Amino acid sequence: MVSIRRATVDDLLKMQQTNLLCLPENYQFKYYIYHYLSWPALLHVAEDHNGKIVGYVLAKLEDEDIKPGEVQGHITSISVLRTYRRLGVASKLMTHAINMMQEYFDADFVSLHVRVSNRPALHLYHKNLGFDVRGVEKEYYADKEDAYKMRKYFKKDKKPKDEVTIEIKDEIKYEDIKDVFEEVDINGEEIPMENKEKETKEKANEENKEDKKGDTKKKKHKKKHK
Ligand SMILES: CC(C)(COP(=O)(O)OP(=O)(O)OC[C@H]1O[C@@H](n2cnc3c(N)ncnc32)[C@H](O)[C@@H]1OP(=O)(O)O)[C@@H](O)C(=O)NCCC(=O)NCCS
Repeated sequence: MVSIRRATVDDLLKMQQTNLLCLPENYQFKYYIYHYLSWPALLHVAEDHNGKIVGYVLAKLEDEDIKPGEVQGHITSISVLRTYRRLGVASKLMTHAINMMQEYFDADFVSLHVRVSNRPALHLYHKNLGFDVRGVEKEYYADKEDAYKMRKYFKKDKKPKDEVTIEIKDEIKYEDIKDVFEEVDINGEEIPMENKEKETKEKANEENKEDKKGDTKKKKHKKKHK
């Protein structure tokens, strides 16, 4: 069984070794450390039942050539050892890293480069994960092979934190939503606290009066039956 988890600092060397076995694009160890120190939530490893690292994803946030206010995730490298391929390991590693980009960093999209000849990776990114080709980067790799530039945009359907949700029923009765309206005045502004307290006290007094009336009635009622 293979499980996916966040990478720890102890995994970095194994990640580098896996990369050396699987890809011609290799990085100095300090580049792994830089990723780990900057975006620890974006590094994941696949581990078999013996604790052996069989795959990794190394990802980051892009800090160059981005529009103001835009958050761009980037997959630096991913690979899975040959004997563990076609088991869904890479899909899971990618999904974990991408989810973290959205949850931790509220990223707008994720990008990556892939060799134009890398069919397995192209299938993984496009067919399984929904990336689209945005262009070609000529002679991107050291051996002068071109790269496809791919991106996957995230849907931004998050609500502002203070937004109030009212469940829409077939017929909305004032009773169902009065709690929401009681917190805001007609202009949508919060009712000042002292007014709220005053209202609450007045309401409580009225309720006490009602209760007392009720008690008096009950007492009278009891007397009648003595
Ligand atoms: C690309 C790579 C990471 C895929 O890893 P994997 O764990 O085998 O991928 P998965 O099992 O999650 O496969 C997911 C999808 O990728 C595609 N895919 C994977 N291997 C494939 C292959 N040999 N041929 C065609 N499609 C392939 C398929 O669409 C597959 O979905 P399916 O099994 O439902 O058909 C792996 O082959 C690898 O490490 N390659 C060498 C390193 C590399 O190229 N990294 C990418 C650099 S950009």
